[in-house]
Amino acid sequence: MCDIKTSYLELIGKAIMDFNLSEDEKLIQETIKDLASSKFAARADKIDKESLFPEENIKELAELGMLGTILDPEYGGAGASTITYSVVLEEIAKACASTSVITSVTTMVGLAIQREGTEEQKEKWVTKIATGETLGSFCLTEPTAGSDAGSLKTTATIEGDEVVINGQKLWITNAAHAGIFLVMANENPSLGHKGISAFVVEKDTPGLQVGAPEKKMGLNGSHTCAVFFDNVRIPLENRIGDPGKGFSIALKSLDTGRIGIASQALGIGQAAFEASVNYAKEREQFGKPIHKFQAVSFRIAEMKMKLEAAQLLTRKAAWMRDKGMKHTMESSMAKAFATEVASEVTQNAIKTFGGMGFSKELPIERYHRDIQATLLYEGTNDIQRLVIAKNLFA
Ligand code: CAA
Repeated sequence: MCDIKTSYLELIGKAIMDFNLSEDEKLIQETIKDLASSKFAARADKIDKESLFPEENIKELAELGMLGTILDPEYGGAGASTITYSVVLEEIAKACASTSVITSVTTMVGLAIQREGTEEQKEKWVTKIATGETLGSFCLTEPTAGSDAGSLKTTATIEGDEVVINGQKLWITNAAHAGIFLVMANENPSLGHKGISAFVVEKDTPGLQVGAPEKKMGLNGSHTCAVFFDNVRIPLENRIGDPGKGFSIALKSLDTGRIGIASQALGIGQAAFEASVNYAKEREQFGKPIHKFQAVSFRIAEMKMKLEAAQLLTRKAAWMRDKGMKHTMESSMAKAFATEVASEVTQNAIKTFGGMGFSKELPIERYHRDIQATLLYEGTNDIQRLVIAKNLFA
């Protein structure tokens, strides 16, 4: 007889899922929670309204080693688990979603170089990212290559022991503040995505130009810019991984990146949920707190139920990564589900707060604006469904 437990364990490779944090990891969670709920939360409104880069937040995270939470201690990282990383991003996002995406993207760049780079490359660049000496930016998207990232047009022409990069990237998180740009460019366009390689371009390289931050609906502290490459000449030794493997490197990086975005969404959703619970207890109408009305309490119960499910999916993807299991589909499921749940939660938080949810006096409307980006970046949720379906029918 096949019981449900056995067949599920077979599905996950007979390993028991365990989302517990070690004592050290619990300490990381508590430390980040304290920092984010006191300092980051207090700064978030000004960061949003004035589109300020959260410099102090990033500096404080760097001091705690949290810009390298899952990077190897050998290269200056904290060496924590992916589950801890997810928890850290969630705590940061609860207070300041901009700070969370900045952290997630720089980590993704550090991880790609750590996974694919030579010893020299890791010592040169991963250490800088892990310690927060500089930030990383992930240059994949282009004006005509968004969802269809493999059709990117930026070229990399090999000239002896140098590479010349030409093209344009768009919607690049951290571009205005990064020292290390991980650039996907095509060495042999006739091969399509199989010609794409990954290169590190350093900030002050002649020909590299960063555009002005885009004007966006939310995540205003995370400056997203176009990046232009005009005959940018770099040493060939800046190529990360094998020639032609750049597209795979980018997609593999996104397997972890999407766990980060799911975690960010959970944090935003959690903030909207907690605010709703408190408000429903305090706000009185018709002579009683509004949570005494079933329409309100059921709506909040729904938030709790869906956030919990989203958190479990996200933790599972993180746990699989920690176990060295392939987690492409699980990352996409977590990303799509968590961001959609959190979007619904922020919308319902506005309904719970009524007029005050629409007001810029409270952070509720900011949660709803910030969450929109998570539905789109690191692959739209339609693309996540495409990835899930591809993995199901492979
Ligand atoms: N890991 C490693 N390699 C992978 C992979 C993975 N998860 N998924 C696919 N690949 C490999 C395949 O094996 C294949 O390799 P070969 O050609 O050598 O056999 C190659 O990649 C192409 O695979 P597909 O045929 O599946 O590629 P596709 O073009 O049909 O579809 C896609 C790919 C899923 C649509 C992909 O383009 C995609 O994810 N698009 C969305 C782009 C995206 O997420 N952009 C995010 C930008 S970064 C960002 O947003 C950061 C930020 O600012 C917050």
